[in-house]
Amino acid sequence: MSANDTTARIDTETFRAGKGGTPLVCLTAYTAPIAKLLDAHCDLLLVGDSLAMVVYGMTSTVGVDLDTMIRHGKAVTGASKHALVVVDMPAGSYETSPEEAVANARRVIAETGAGAIKLEGGTDMAATIAAIVAAGVPVMGHVGLLPQRAEAEGGFRIKGRNDAEARRVVDDAVAVAKAGAFSLVIEGTIEPVAREITETVDIPTIGIGASPACDGQVLVIDDVIGLFTEFQPKFVKRYGDVAKAVSDAAHSYADDVRSRRFPGKGHVYDAE
Ligand code: KIV
Repeated sequence: MSANDTTARIDTETFRAGKGGTPLVCLTAYTAPIAKLLDAHCDLLLVGDSLAMVVYGMTSTVGVDLDTMIRHGKAVTGASKHALVVVDMPAGSYETSPEEAVANARRVIAETGAGAIKLEGGTDMAATIAAIVAAGVPVMGHVGLLPQRAEAEGGFRIKGRNDAEARRVVDDAVAVAKAGAFSLVIEGTIEPVAREITETVDIPTIGIGASPACDGQVLVIDDVIGLFTEFQPKFVKRYGDVAKAVSDAAHSYADDVRSRRFPGKGHVYDAE
């Protein structure tokens, strides 16, 4: 698989076949214009529920609902043609029962055209993942640091720093793979844990704050381009300064309006 092959959209089977090869490139995308810009460079675009924080300014990811995820999922799918699109199941949409999870997952796929859904959890979510996969909806798992549970656990904390917790994270990953997930996000853990998982499961592991010992990497696009600047986790590498570009543009526009340099002659309609 190559991100340069823009002729066909990557499906979950092709993505899965990327395990152990060239690292898989994944980024979040929430809107059509950003999806369009990222599509050719990525193997996977994740419509993450991180949009609650970076798009809607909420303090955690739990405030976003299914309709919102579907709206953004549809925008990203519609504006991309190469990358596999995966839509996050928001908190509250899949934990109550496997039946409800299946119905909501089906809705996401039917209404967005995405290739798969993602949900957080390990051993405790294995039956739900198996039910969704059995219903024909590909699932990406998510183990380690689980943002939807962070608030309840007292904050974002790296998982697996002691033996018992490391074992739990590995067991979670194995359970998710056994349940039929086609790929797995590993978030916020130490390198030996990520390496053990990657060497144990037969599906691609996608790390975020989980070291290079994964089959691929994912980052939040607003962190990558320097648009979200409230805080910068250690694992983020910033490749741009869009916040400054936007602020500079707004500053120049404000100067021009206040000094009547804008609109200029070229921006005004003639009578004919
Ligand atoms: O919502 C999100 O952006 C995610 C990533 C952290 C993987 O789940």
